[in-house]
Amino acid sequence: MAVLSMAGEAVAPVGLMGRPVYELRGVSKTFTRRNVQALDKVDLVLREGTFSSIIGPSGCGKSTLLKIMAGLLPPSSGSVVLEGKPVMGPRRDIGMMFQQATLFPWRTTIENIVLPIEIRDGKAAARTKHDQARQLLDLVGLRGFESVYPSELSGGMAQRAAICRMLITEPAVLLLDEPFSALDELSRDFMNMELQRICLERNATSCLVTHSIPEAVILSDVVYVMSSRPGRFVEAITVDLPRPRTLDMMSDPRFGALVHRIRSHLDKGAFQ
Ligand SMILES: Nc1ncnc2c1ncn2[C@@H]1O[C@H](COP(=O)(O)OP(=O)(O)OP(=O)(O)O)[C@@H](O)[C@H]1O
Ligand SMILES: [Mg+2]
Repeated sequence: MAVLSMAGEAVAPVGLMGRPVYELRGVSKTFTRRNVQALDKVDLVLREGTFSSIIGPSGCGKSTLLKIMAGLLPPSSGSVVLEGKPVMGPRRDIGMMFQQATLFPWRTTIENIVLPIEIRDGKAAARTKHDQARQLLDLVGLRGFESVYPSELSGGMAQRAAICRMLITEPAVLLLDEPFSALDELSRDFMNMELQRICLERNATSCLVTHSIPEAVILSDVVYVMSSRPGRFVEAITVDLPRPRTLDMMSDPRFGALVHRIRSHLDKGAFQ
């Protein structure tokens, strides 16, 4: 797998420096019941405080990879190590966010946010987390909405509440599977900038699965391009735009060059 800067020369990008947090070696996955090979020998190292994206065609194995990283699915072969320890099942240092906010309609915002603590440590422990939950609500601009039910939140607000729910357990790693794809373009741009701010503030190590090339480029230190199924990485592209990123950067010629480079994989057949 080549690692290239936007100018096309080989480099050691930001995302490839620093302490490794996640290390995947030769991860393959075959779903035996239907004999579908979803992943083929995927190697991936996520460094502390970096933001990576995985982009590839529908059905190439992106969600499967994220579920394996989260300990929700076992790989058929290969190893997944987080903070030096093999991932054998769900872990408290992993935060995951899916396409839908999936808040429980009968629980208020704050009750939804502390739910992972309640499941893990019980009701009393969850109650002690209410102050922290309020701080998180402040962080995502939802102050005053703690006692509201999900039906009274907009789609973007519900996704912001879901971010708080992911962060309440203070995970070392954020795994995001198309978290904002159900939102309109304006809300999505806003949420992406919020996500960047939160990640920078907390020095989070993050991995985003997305179908949007501009979204991948504006958020990431490294964009991993996945082939069609069985998924494997065909290129890792470093994004050397300064941080914090702003939406204005989308009109920067360097941004356009990166989008073009990733899109060129379409022509090469990676997305077929
Ligand atoms: N539990 C499962 N059992 C059998 N096959 C599965 C299972 N989960 C996924 N697959 C298959 O594995 C392949 C990869 O699926 P996956 O959901 O990882 O794709 P994806 O890249 O996330 O696609 P999309 O972009 O559409 O979300 C697909 O062919 C899918 O049918
Ligand atoms: Mg998917």
